[in-house]
Amino acid sequence: MAELMPGRKKVLKWLNKHLSKVKRNTFLLIISITVFSCSGTLSKKETELFTEKGNLIVKKTAEELSGTLTAKMKDGGIPMAVEYCNIAALPLTSEISEIEHVSIKRTSLKIRNPQNSPNEEEIEVMNMFLSMINKSKAPKPVVKLDESGKPHYYAPILIDAKCLMCHGTLDRELSKKADSIIKTYYPKDLATGFKEGDLRGIWSISLP
Ligand code: HEC
Repeated sequence: MAELMPGRKKVLKWLNKHLSKVKRNTFLLIISITVFSCSGTLSKKETELFTEKGNLIVKKTAEELSGTLTAKMKDGGIPMAVEYCNIAALPLTSEISEIEHVSIKRTSLKIRNPQNSPNEEEIEVMNMFLSMINKSKAPKPVVKLDESGKPHYYAPILIDAKCLMCHGTLDRELSKKADSIIKTYYPKDLATGFKEGDLRGIWSISLP
């Protein structure tokens, strides 16, 4: 074992003995690049690729969710639509997660379903997006490395007019009836009172 896993001194001794100076420098350069890239930076190209992959997954999941939601609203109004969100939102994201080999989560600073609660990193990203919105800058998707060195994609979810009947202000866009249906499924609901353009939450996707 000692032969196979020599200490640092032994490695350098071996390098001195066996490699020319140029080769040795190249070898050390490669080692330091490897260590550097493990320590938490993504190249521009990697960031672009991961952002693209995240964007595609969000598009696919959002289309699926909102397409069925609209159909349910037509068929059975808010009760049916809320029931759909309650039954299908989490399984749907996990189904797409399995197909794409990623983990997909929607979270918020004002959550409806406690199972969607944010972790510290997600709270930090949402605060960053909020401060951009406050400065009238459009928040854009970001990719960061998590503590195990895996890329993690975050994208803002903004409120538009379609969302208000379930996430808007009580007695204005959100009827008392809709609110009471929502509260039967989610007694601790915090996800109301939003206006168009508000940050509703984020997509949080860990990529392989
Ligand atoms: C028919 C009512 C309805 C409409 C319309 C609706 N939502 Fe929701 N939303 C819900 C319900 C119910 C949940 C809880 C789903 C669950 O159990 O995971 C939810 C959960 C969410 C979550 C997950 C975080 C959390 O709070 O649990 C996000 C993000 C979200 N909605 C964003 C939106 C956006 C953006 C729109 C508009 C494009 C929208 N919703 C439209 C009912 C609705």
